[in-house]
Amino acid sequence: MSASNLLIVLVIFISLFGMSNAQLNSTFYANSCPNISGIVRGVIQEALRSDPRIGASLIRLHFHDCFVDGCDGSLLLDNSSSIRTEKDAGPNIASVRGFDVVDNIKTAAENACRGVVSCADILAIAAEASVFGGRSWNVLLGRRDSRTANFAGANTFLPSATEGLTNITAKFAALNLSVTDLVALSGAHTFGRAQCFTFINRLYNFRGTGNPDPTLNSSYLATLRQICPQNGNGSIVTNLDLTTPDTFDSNYFTNLQSNQGLLQSDQELFSTNGSLTVPIGCDGSLLLDNSNSIQSEKNAGPNVNSTRGFNVVDTIKTTLENACPGVVSCADILAIAAEASVSLAGGPSWNVLLGRRDSTTANQAGANTLIPSPFEGLTNITAKFSAVGLNTNDLVALSGAHTFGRAQCRTFSNRLFNFSGTGNPDQTLASSYLATLRQTCPQNGSGSTLANLDLTTPNNFDNNYFSNLQNNQGLLQSDQELFSTTGAATIVIVNNFVNNQTAFFQSFAQSMINMGNISPLTGSSGEIRSDCKKVNGS
Ligand code: HEM
Repeated sequence: MSASNLLIVLVIFISLFGMSNAQLNSTFYANSCPNISGIVRGVIQEALRSDPRIGASLIRLHFHDCFVDGCDGSLLLDNSSSIRTEKDAGPNIASVRGFDVVDNIKTAAENACRGVVSCADILAIAAEASVFGGRSWNVLLGRRDSRTANFAGANTFLPSATEGLTNITAKFAALNLSVTDLVALSGAHTFGRAQCFTFINRLYNFRGTGNPDPTLNSSYLATLRQICPQNGNGSIVTNLDLTTPDTFDSNYFTNLQSNQGLLQSDQELFSTNGSLTVPIGCDGSLLLDNSNSIQSEKNAGPNVNSTRGFNVVDTIKTTLENACPGVVSCADILAIAAEASVSLAGGPSWNVLLGRRDSTTANQAGANTLIPSPFEGLTNITAKFSAVGLNTNDLVALSGAHTFGRAQCRTFSNRLFNFSGTGNPDQTLASSYLATLRQTCPQNGSGSTLANLDLTTPNNFDNNYFSNLQNNQGLLQSDQELFSTTGAATIVIVNNFVNNQTAFFQSFAQSMINMGNISPLTGSSGEIRSDCKKVNGS
């Protein structure tokens, strides 16, 4: 093992462990189950005798577990009356494997020390043992197992080999994993197998061109076409690393240099033109329209037919360009406009920090992935805030912006008639409010009809939004869950804001500053756009 390989692997595991909470430590089972690492290693060694691929399969389980709501063993739960298993989600079904070995490890662990070692920790130890035989770094331990699975999350958060580097980078960034993490972790494709259906898009008709992927070495292409003929069996497997398929080494990266990466997502790490930046942060990227080089964020799911006010931003920009041309960025205009809008509606005012510059790219995939949806649940939404450095207090305070404005029926009608397939409305919805909302948004009515986000004072910036939550009159599921999720840390914050509008105003101002600080472009990064809709010179 060379020093550079070791470095790669350390980055991999520091990355994965970084997604868990800070209380993990390597001696967690020192007293309660001192031989756990030996137990895991023994079962894997036995399995490797008949299945040289099993180590690769096990490390992949850890990855697919960690990327969905953290490393909590949720991937291992089977279907039941309360669980929709993640195993059946698109990226997992007929693909992830090794569950029988995990079960064997669990049985051996339970025999040695009953009720002590979590399934989530077993995956972490098994991942390390699979890479090096279990002697390469101290695995941080102490995870507990989830009591729920997140089928939808597995479909959303796990990367697909064909979705493109920007999207995949955004999915990693959403979990605070950097581009280096992405490249290092992809290095796990130095062993294991992939099925034809995961890369056949590259062999015959890449992106509808009628030709193979031009970044595929021609002799490698010929080999792969023999293994995966057109209309052949999509489940045939081949080696992810054509040179040393069962060894954990750096040949994966050498393969990329010679255009012999197997998956599109592998080869793109090397063959994508230009430096890879993650366009996230307050950079005015939302304001860019479609062009040859821009896929507008305005067309991303959370924005299309929903975000508005662009014409007012354009008017502000024109006025500013007349007053002081080429000076004020579009990103700063949004920050100033946000403060002005809140204070004009009776809310707090604050000193807006300025000096942002504008991006020269948009990130439509990021907009689809990183912006919270009203339906996705408090855990997910909290994770999305924390991925950009915002805590639970920020989440509650900033949600208080729903004290004014409107929402379309389609953003909350899921709560009115058949909530989560129960055939009944959301039980956390006050019955008279439910009746009103059903009138505004009848079943099969127009999804674009508007309702006030704050039913009491719809145009004022005050703390009534929070009193509404206490009365079960939050409009969106994501609003009401701040108060109605049993045991959630958000409840006490909501209660505080109801009792103390000043505390809400102070928190809101501070959280707006925190949000405005997300990855600004400064110095010579980016540009000052002269038209917020277009990159300069385009
Ligand atoms: C960067 C985004 C990634 C994408 C798009 C991706 C996609 C895939 C796909 C499509 C397969 C083949 C599955 C099949 O044919 O059934 C695969 C296999 C594998 N992946 Fe990834 N993967 C990614 C990152 C990772 C990471 C971060 C790890 C672990 C740290 C990992 C570990 C593995 C391993 C070891 C295999 C082989 C498993 C086996 O042989 O059973 N992958 N991956």
